[in-house]
Parts: sequence; structure tokens; C-alpha cells
Amino acid sequence: MTDTKRIVLSSDHAAIEMRQAIAKHIAAKGWEVVDIGPTTPESTHYPKHGAAAAQMVAAGDCDLGIVLCGTGQGIMLAANKVKGIRCGVCMDTFSAKMLRAHNNANMLSIGARIVGESLALEIVDAFLSTPFEGGRHGTRVDMITALED
Ligand code: RB5
Repeated sequence: MTDTKRIVLSSDHAAIEMRQAIAKHIAAKGWEVVDIGPTTPESTHYPKHGAAAAQMVAAGDCDLGIVLCGTGQGIMLAANKVKGIRCGVCMDTFSAKMLRAHNNANMLSIGARIVGESLALEIVDAFLSTPFEGGRHGTRVDMITALED
């Protein structure tokens, strides 16, 4: 990676440790990490954390976002309610690559109760190191965007 890019991280209570491990991992690779918490383990509501991260990406405050909850599903659903967000849950590295290469996703979601930390870091690396292929995939992503209007 040549240019420093900003990435927002968020989770619910089910994924605090994994989120912090991801933050450390990608900061070491040169990303500017904006970790918006939470930091304490009390039960909380994933929609507000997913929305907060998604709004930062949609506003252009961050280039990309990573969100986590127990399954990755609830916080992904919340993030995708924000206009301009394309967020997918990945439990494997191939899906993470395709999420960028074909879907031009700007957010990744991971289930901290599904995958272990080592795999989660590999998924993150796959997502962050894969460029969008454009071409016919751009046409399809534009069709997704058109559904928002
Ligand atoms: C919290 O118990 C759990 O429901 C949440 O982390 C997530 O898995 C929801 O999709």
C-alpha cells in the first residue's frame, strides 16, 4: 500500500477483542484506523454500531469500513441500510477477495463467533489487498446503486 488510507472499525459487544486485534493488525500495515468502539463489554445493539461506521464511509470520512458482531449478519444488515454502502459478510478469504473484485464493497463484516482470529486477519488482508476489477462488474454494481433511488 502506498497511500495511507482511513478505515473505520466498529462492532458490538460480541467482537470487541477481534476488532481490537484487527485494528492493531491493519495499523501495522500502514492504515489509519478509526476505531469507534465500543470498548466495554456490556451488551449493546449492533444496528447503531453498524450505522455509525457506515455513515462515516458514506460521508467520505473513511475510505473503507470493517464491522463485526457475533455472526457478522446483523451489523452487515444495518450497514447496508445506509445509502452508498456495499457491505458483505465473509467467513473465507475467497469471498473477501470477490467482495472487492466483483462487488466493489466498501465495507466488510465478520462474525466473531464464527471464525477464529487468525482467519479473520486473513479475511481482512484479502479484502484490503484486492482491487475492484471494474468492467462488467462495474455495470452490475451501478445496477445495485440504482436500486437506492
Ligand atoms: C448478539 O448476541 C448477537 O445477536 C449479535 O452479535 C449478532 O450476531 C447479530 O447478528
